[in-house]
Amino acid sequence: MFNLSKLGIPIIQAPMAGGINNPRLASEVCNAGGVGSFGFSYSTPQKISEDLAATRALTKGPINANFFVFSPVNLPAQAIQEQAIEALKNLPLKGAYALSIPQAPFYPDLEDQLNPVWEHCPEVLTFHFGIPSPSILEMAHSLGIAVGITATSLKEAKAIEQAGADFIVAQGIEAGGHRGIFNPDAADEKLTAIDLTKLLVSQCSIPIVAAGAIMDGTDIANTLRSGAVAAQLGTAFLCCEESGASLAHKEFLLNHHTRGSVFTTGFSGRPARGIANEFIRLMESKIVLPFPIQNTLTASLRQFGGKTNDGEYQSLWAGQDYSRARKLSAKNLMLALKEELLIALSLHRTTTIDT
Ligand SMILES: Cc1cc2nc3c(=O)[nH]c(=O)nc-3n(C[C@H](O)[C@H](O)[C@H](O)COP(=O)(O)O)c2cc1C
Repeated sequence: MFNLSKLGIPIIQAPMAGGINNPRLASEVCNAGGVGSFGFSYSTPQKISEDLAATRALTKGPINANFFVFSPVNLPAQAIQEQAIEALKNLPLKGAYALSIPQAPFYPDLEDQLNPVWEHCPEVLTFHFGIPSPSILEMAHSLGIAVGITATSLKEAKAIEQAGADFIVAQGIEAGGHRGIFNPDAADEKLTAIDLTKLLVSQCSIPIVAAGAIMDGTDIANTLRSGAVAAQLGTAFLCCEESGASLAHKEFLLNHHTRGSVFTTGFSGRPARGIANEFIRLMESKIVLPFPIQNTLTASLRQFGGKTNDGEYQSLWAGQDYSRARKLSAKNLMLALKEELLIALSLHRTTTIDT
């Protein structure tokens, strides 16, 4: 089975659903010694199959297929649905976008999505928002696929370990994109990536991968010193030439640093961290449908924002330290991260010897 501690460079390019990951980005990361990931949560089995086959043709390195563990969800009462539609209709967005209440099933069938995974056998399979069924873990293990699951607290990490996963992704509060917390209505401990990593390393016996605002080799060295086996970087890869992030997303990451990043439930119904924009501000106290119904409901609006290159009406997911994102090819970013990491580790060694 694939072992994260054997990586050429201890970096996982984060799975990022919504068209950001693609075979070019993933294969460049793999060929540079890291893990190239796909956020396949909203993808059809055919697209998953095509992406895995295309990536395998470009690299022998470790590929990670990532999925959400969706919880069963029902449409709320008619009056709530109408208020959610009203909130979106009243946005000062010039142009046409269709708004209609989604119908069940509200999310893809995970078993169907996993069929191409069993066929193509990526080295790694990861999950966000919860723990998949034991049969999925069994199947992965029978094929030699290592399974990782996101935790935001010690309680979640203990449940992941108990379920038989091979590693835990410790997602800090600084992380971009959806918060992986199992129950978004429960209290959130809001631990930083480093604090959570140290806690999980001390209390769990499976490897820990740190995630959240890790932007350069010095940050990676800090996570390794905290006991992580590898670092998972999302935002750092968003401005790569190969990244499928929209033009506005890249432009905001590179040039709108004073905005900062905030959590919102407005786009999808679940808390996610992105660059502060007009949509987030205007949706602050508005009625929002549960995840992922709100995500489907806002799809046409987000697509409209994409077509018109309007960053105020797109989900600009980004971690807290997005101002340090670099515009490089994935290959050059990996080279820079490796060089910075080696310097940070050797400096630490020198300091340790000197003192
Ligand atoms: C644009 C974007 C999309 C993301 N989509 C996913 C996803 O589909 N699955 C997942 O497990 N994590 C997803 N994440 C979270 C990452 O796995 C990781 O926790 C996060 O990127 C780490 O913080 P950073 O962005 O500051 O590096 C996403 C993050 C970003 C920035």
